[in-house]
Amino acid sequence: MLFKFVILILTSVAAAEDFNFTYLGFRSANLSLEGVAEVTSNGILRVTNDTVQSIGHAFYPNPVTFKNSSDGPVLSFSSTFIFAMRYKVRQGHGIAFVIAPTKGLPGASPVGFFGLFNRTNDGSPTNHVFAVELDTFENPEFSDINDNHVGIDINGVVSVVSAPAGYYADERLITSGQPVQVWVDYDGTKKQINVSMALVSNGKPYNPLLSLTRDLSPVLHRTMYMGFSASTGNLTAINYVLGWSFKMNGHAEELGLSQLPKMPRLEPKKIPKLLTIGLPVILVSSALLAFVFWVYYAIRRKKKFAELLEDWELEYGPQRFKYRELYIATKGFREKELLGKGGFGKVYRGISPTSGTVIAVKRVSHESRQGMKEFVAEIVSNGRLRHRNLVPLLGYCRRKGELLLVYEYMPNGSLDKYLFDRPAVTLDWSQRFIVIRGVALGLLYLHEEWDQVVVHRDVKASNILLDGEWNGRLGDFGLARLYDHGADPQTTHIAGTFGYLAPEHTRSCRATTSSDVFAFGVCLLEVACGRRPIEYHGSENVILVDWVFSCWEGRNILEAKDPKLGNDFVAEEVELVLKLGLFCCQSEPSMRPRMRQVVQHLEDKVPLPAEFSLLGLSSRGLGISHNEGFDEYTMAPGSSVSSYVPDSSFLSCGR
Ligand SMILES: *[C@@H]1O[C@H](CO)[C@@H](O)[C@H](O)[C@H]1NC(C)=O
Ligand SMILES: *[C@@H]1O[C@H](CO)[C@@H](O)[C@H](O)[C@H]1NC(C)=O
Ligand SMILES: *[C@@H]1O[C@H](CO)[C@@H](O)[C@H](O)[C@H]1NC(C)=O
Ligand SMILES: *[C@@H]1O[C@H](CO)[C@@H](O)[C@H](O)[C@H]1NC(C)=O
Ligand SMILES: *[C@@H]1O[C@H](CO)[C@@H](O)[C@H](O)[C@H]1NC(C)=O
Ligand SMILES: *[C@@H]1O[C@H](CO)[C@@H](O)[C@H](O)[C@H]1NC(C)=O
Ligand SMILES: *[C@@H]1O[C@H](CO)[C@@H](O)[C@H](O)[C@H]1NC(C)=O
Repeated sequence: MLFKFVILILTSVAAAEDFNFTYLGFRSANLSLEGVAEVTSNGILRVTNDTVQSIGHAFYPNPVTFKNSSDGPVLSFSSTFIFAMRYKVRQGHGIAFVIAPTKGLPGASPVGFFGLFNRTNDGSPTNHVFAVELDTFENPEFSDINDNHVGIDINGVVSVVSAPAGYYADERLITSGQPVQVWVDYDGTKKQINVSMALVSNGKPYNPLLSLTRDLSPVLHRTMYMGFSASTGNLTAINYVLGWSFKMNGHAEELGLSQLPKMPRLEPKKIPKLLTIGLPVILVSSALLAFVFWVYYAIRRKKKFAELLEDWELEYGPQRFKYRELYIATKGFREKELLGKGGFGKVYRGISPTSGTVIAVKRVSHESRQGMKEFVAEIVSNGRLRHRNLVPLLGYCRRKGELLLVYEYMPNGSLDKYLFDRPAVTLDWSQRFIVIRGVALGLLYLHEEWDQVVVHRDVKASNILLDGEWNGRLGDFGLARLYDHGADPQTTHIAGTFGYLAPEHTRSCRATTSSDVFAFGVCLLEVACGRRPIEYHGSENVILVDWVFSCWEGRNILEAKDPKLGNDFVAEEVELVLKLGLFCCQSEPSMRPRMRQVVQHLEDKVPLPAEFSLLGLSSRGLGISHNEGFDEYTMAPGSSVSSYVPDSSFLSCGR
């Protein structure tokens, strides 16, 4: 029986001997809370909050045995905790670590006294309270040394010993707002109390901040309650405790920093206001701005590359180019890429981004949509025209007020460059003859060898292009037709170029294969003579057809040949070309040869009829310098007024 009792004592003492606990956060601690104290959702113990004149108590739930017996000495103990203090307005009162006979401290004042005492019982030995105060309020009434100090309190708030809370004179550990660790150690043998303090990151200092030799045996009962206490006055402080450990007879376990709950962020002051309000505002507004810019850019881009595409065009899919592609190909239609300018528009050189081939892009401005469908139908079908003497049309693109035609690029440019105005390079006779023959074959193909009769409408030297092998190729076929459907219903424009227009064409405004033959005749004369259809010499206009004819009447038609040829020519061929030119330029359409005949004359050297009618072969034939059939002629926009023969002008038929 006695033995059993001794065992019981031993085990209970053994239990008291190594009593210990460690809290890293208080979520599972089952602390006993009183007043405004509470454990936040992330496990921080908040002893006081902003409520003025309030008390907060948080105690370990069970009594702790400090002595072997009621009259024995207090055992050694060790405790450490991490706290932090935050203020909204100005620093209020502090917090105390306390060992007290009861869990609550009934009757404690909410102002001053750390929630431990009231004015009546403060300092009374009957309190049996041991506390370590972390004071942030300099109260002269309680002999406080400053507003940031640590003190050891026994039974009252007037500290037995106190010291500024900091290693250095200007260090303000408690009021720093940062988590601070405090160690409270009692040596039961030496009857010595040490209090140490440091910022959590710094570890336990070598020397304690406070050291007091005092036997706690009269103060503490055998079992006591232990915890934290704080009160707010008119100025509040929010007191947090993040972790706490305790051990009887040994060192309290260190608090693993990484396992502690995170402190709420420091209360915002001036810069944080900028961060919490300004930064989001800046971010949101810059995101908004970026979005607006993006939309603006997208709209502009869309507008920039906008095309017209109507239902009827869908079948021409393969022939349709994207405007974007042409824009990139010509480097944004740069002046540097400009190949030439004509009445219908400008021609640019480009490199197709998809195929890498060199292309020529003709920009034709055209406001009217009238007739566009027929025209596009025709150019697309013309795109299917394949002949070695035609410039291949690769496709088209349509935009508002604009039509873009894409041709294969002809590296040697147009024929007129090699004929007129003292050219840098001229063609010798055999080259010229090859060009003429080629163009004749191309025109024959258009007139007679394809499914439909195609009238070119604008045969002229500048529309004859030379490919890499110096073959003549006709370009721009059918384009003049676009202007047959005049934009202005009051006047019908004659499409074609002044100087190449057959007389009946100017009268009837109708282009026919024989008006093409007339224009080809003019080209023949140009090539043989190296002169333009009309030249201005002083005040006098020299009409090429008339002039060649007058040479022939003078019985030496070869006088009309181009002096640039020198002696390097075949006289029969030059004579044939000159006469054939005149033959084609007869004013009566029915008297002109057809292209098949023209080709026979050139290819097989079939002799021309001995006498062909030259009736009306005069200036009258070119339809200029008199008023027959029209009242006026107008220059087409885009044609150069300064050139002595309007390169591409339009006569308007008065109605
Ligand atoms: C802490 O107390 C428990 C019993 O509650 C005991 O098992 C353990 O050994 C003690 N740890 C230390 C370090 O004293
Ligand atoms: C302080 O805490 C108490 C208890 O949780 C609560 O009732 C009170 O509203 C809090 N006051 C403030 C100002 O947060
Ligand atoms: C928490 O402590 C109270 C008394 O303070 C006690 O009644 C309760 O059983 C304890 N709960 C746990 C889970 O320890
Ligand atoms: C308390 O009791 C234990 C076990 O009986 C003993 O080892 C220890 O020395 C005692 N401590 C004091 C201070 O009397
Ligand atoms: C002060 O506290 C004591 C002990 O808790 C209590 O008996 C007393 O009534 C209190 N006095 C005042 C004025 O509140
Ligand atoms: C208190 O600090 C002194 C000086 O560092 C040291 O010698 C003594 O052992 C300490 N006492 C306790 C209980 O930690
Ligand atoms: C606290 O505020 C109350 C009312 O606002 C006032 O009567 C009292 O004097 C103040 N106490 C202190 C210590 O400033």
